[in-house]
Amino acid sequence: MANRVVIGSQWGDEGKAKVVDFLTLDADYIVRFQGGANAGHTVEVGDKKFVFHLIPSGIMHDDKICVIGNGVVLDPVQTLAEIADLHTKGINPEGRLFIADNAHVVLPYHSTLDKAKEKKAGKGAIGTTGRGIGPCYSDKVNRIGVRVGDLMDERELRPRVEAMAKVHNEEFKVMYDVPEIDPEQVIKDYLELGQKIKPFVRDVSAMLYAAVKAGKRLVFEGAQGTILDVDQGTYPFVTSSNTVAGYASCGAGIGPTAIDQVVGVVKAYTTRVGNGPFPTELLDETGDTLRKIGNEYGATTGRNRRCGWFDAPVVRKAAVVNGLTHLAITKLDVLDTFDSIKICTHSRSAAACRFTKKCRVGSAIPPSAVSSKTCRKMPVSI
Ligand code: IMP
Repeated sequence: MANRVVIGSQWGDEGKAKVVDFLTLDADYIVRFQGGANAGHTVEVGDKKFVFHLIPSGIMHDDKICVIGNGVVLDPVQTLAEIADLHTKGINPEGRLFIADNAHVVLPYHSTLDKAKEKKAGKGAIGTTGRGIGPCYSDKVNRIGVRVGDLMDERELRPRVEAMAKVHNEEFKVMYDVPEIDPEQVIKDYLELGQKIKPFVRDVSAMLYAAVKAGKRLVFEGAQGTILDVDQGTYPFVTSSNTVAGYASCGAGIGPTAIDQVVGVVKAYTTRVGNGPFPTELLDETGDTLRKIGNEYGATTGRNRRCGWFDAPVVRKAAVVNGLTHLAITKLDVLDTFDSIKICTHSRSAAACRFTKKCRVGSAIPPSAVSSKTCRKMPVSI
């Protein structure tokens, strides 16, 4: 049986959870490998409603093992809230949920910074979820981050939090005029949280390696979507992780040869949350209808999702950068209501914008602003 990666092939919210849930029936392990509590999916079973941001929804099947890999940025408060919610609904994740000891931790500095930066950016804001994802990944790359394993030992945690506080409190004061966050309080709170998540913490890489060797079946559950990938997406209007299939390997600590199939999930139309280019966006009644029928409201922030027609170049790009072997199309029934539907088959590349004075690089190309003479000379995107 194949080990599969499930990837969003648009701007996220493609209905990956439904596909993951279906493939979970055939799997032993379900693995998150990137992103954090910016993701969100809602699962309804009978009269019970579950909203997951971090824990794979596979946890609802009591014979499945769920893993949060090192590529995820973990908010322990959110994780414990999800664990508590599972308990109240009669589900016991103990012994079946494992968190990588080398995953980075989202601290209060990160969400505060995320919101402050967005506020200051005004019209240029990315439209983040405000969950501290970008600042946490930046600290990881800047080598001043805190990892899950550090929460277990004050001798590890204290110097790291103190160093991080020095950087961010200065930033809060000088650049954003927001109150400083007391590192002593953070150390105290996160040591306590560390003790609570300790039973779940493991060397996940070793665990998955052993599982693969034993012939267990793995499903890697992507979050967000390909066009929000920090390298392949509509930069800078992207999330801060690699959302593409190749990262399943890095973010779970397992070699790429363990992966057999890549399933892309696409919605039969397109949605996007937050700011940035969206060539097929419908800013009219049709867009509103798609939103209403498709129930297109963010699971994490409750924001209206921007809606538009299916954009084939976007999905072609996803096929290329992920090496898709399969495609799952969701929400086709939402289109039943329409007498006719449109599909974008080609679009001008972002590079084309560079040659027209009226377009910003990477912005959606307003057709009226692009001289067709100029654009005919430009390459079209794949
Ligand atoms: P961040 O990931 O919170 O930094 O947000 C960066 C961009 O990614 C924003 O446009 C968000 O709306 C978008 N984003 C983050 N997570 C999701 C998701 O799960 N679904 C859809 N968009 C998302």
